Amino acid sequence: MTQQIDDATIERLANEPWYVSARASQIDRFRHSLKLVNKHIPQIQLVYDIGCANGQFSQMLSRLADRVVALDINPERIEQNQCKYELVENLTFSVGNFLEMELPVGCADLVSALEVLYYFNEEQQRQFLAKAAAMLRRNGCILISANVFFAGHFDTQSLQGLVGEYFDVVETRTIYRNLYYKIELPIIRWLDSINYLTKLRIFTPNILLLKRKFYPGFWNTLLLRPSQLMDRFLIPLARWMGIRLLQSMLLYRIVTSFSKIFFPDESRSQLIILARKKNQ
Ligand SMILES: C[S@@+](CC[C@H](N)C(=O)[O-])C[C@H]1O[C@@H](n2cnc3c(N)ncnc32)[C@H](O)[C@@H]1O
Repeated sequence: MTQQIDDATIERLANEPWYVSARASQIDRFRHSLKLVNKHIPQIQLVYDIGCANGQFSQMLSRLADRVVALDINPERIEQNQCKYELVENLTFSVGNFLEMELPVGCADLVSALEVLYYFNEEQQRQFLAKAAAMLRRNGCILISANVFFAGHFDTQSLQGLVGEYFDVVETRTIYRNLYYKIELPIIRWLDSINYLTKLRIFTPNILLLKRKFYPGFWNTLLLRPSQLMDRFLIPLARWMGIRLLQSMLLYRIVTSFSKIFFPDESRSQLIILARKKNQ
């Protein structure tokens, strides 16, 4: 029986397909980020996670910290997260533009800003870093990750330089994701287009569920058969393959190791930085 997908599910899939958050690259980036936090910040009372999106990393932080406040400019994300993580007692979500929000100063142990800085121009990035520094208590840290390979307007050196104006860089990690990204992006687009086509009702689950006769007699079965094949077999198979490829740690490791050896261009890699607030 073809599964019917309701409108809300289709909308959710189209906006932020669930498989994106389980990508091998995402898991690896979070793993490196958490390692840096664990290594350099022994006790965390309060964390601000800026640009939390689906809250996946905020939830991981909530296992290390007494309290996590996660912010995002997108109200839908925050609403979804508030439902999804309502049982996580030490995690709260707020909606707003980080640069404009009034936030307490001098009390956070960590501000994390993963994949957020490239939303801003250079002047705004400075404002961002200055504000994050002000929110931190003495010796507090900032955690940053940035896909400098698609950011265009900054590279590894300029990002490190900018962070260095407000913080002392403690440790950085480089992930050679440039080549992997060229594989990952078409798969994401492929999955997105499947969701998009499903959304447009180009495929036929709803027609089949209605059990209506569109054609007389056996013509109905015959003419709908190719669509049934599509709905029941080809589309689920294409989706399953895409998801498996995105989640494959093996593929990710092979491609990133290959890049590290053959294309070790740090300026176009993914950078993770842990930096400590400068002592004035
Ligand atoms: C690429 S996502 C990164 C999500 C998550 N931090 C991660 O690493 O997977 C960037 C998020 O930053 C949010 N964002 C962009 N500009 C922002 C701003 N000015 N204030 C707060 N959030 C912002 C976006 O809405 C988006 O959800």
